[in-house]
Amino acid sequence: MTAAAGVGLTVNGDPLTLVAGPGATLLDLLRGAAQLTGSKRGCNSGVCGACTVLVDGRAARACLMLAADCAGRDVVTVEGLDGDPNAAVLGEEMAKSGAVQCGYCTPGIVVALTDLFRSAVEPPDAEAVRHWLGGNICRCTGYVSIVEAAVRAGGRCVGSEPGLPAQ
Ligand code: FES
Ligand code: FES
Repeated sequence: MTAAAGVGLTVNGDPLTLVAGPGATLLDLLRGAAQLTGSKRGCNSGVCGACTVLVDGRAARACLMLAADCAGRDVVTVEGLDGDPNAAVLGEEMAKSGAVQCGYCTPGIVVALTDLFRSAVEPPDAEAVRHWLGGNICRCTGYVSIVEAAVRAGGRCVGSEPGLPAQ
């Protein structure tokens, strides 16, 4: 893409055509033209996970994807998880554990874990959660509270109807 051009894609269920400049990334598109600022820009180089969104249902780093390559894709940001039962359970458990401090990493972690809960065949244990979140950096919490919350939420979401209390 050498000049600004329209990119047609679906964002949070809405078909949109967004104008992307040369070299623009999906993160640029979401935070700019789409005015969805839930996806955070941390490292802008694929390391921190703050920009994680779902692309065609799987977690991906928006800062690494060229906007031009997202034509026809289905993108879900953290805003699009409003009302998602897995994300709601996770939010409850993260609040109980004090797993949110400054909150900058939280959208990426919520999106990443939503992908885990949807794709896992059994509730993830702490090791599985740590492995899954290996690319999501949090500078505040030390991860213990995040992992505890994710394990409890996974127990409620994976293999059962999301939202039900843990057995
Ligand atoms: S901002 Fe995309 S991985 Fe850090
Ligand atoms: S809560 Fe601050 S970076 Fe994770």
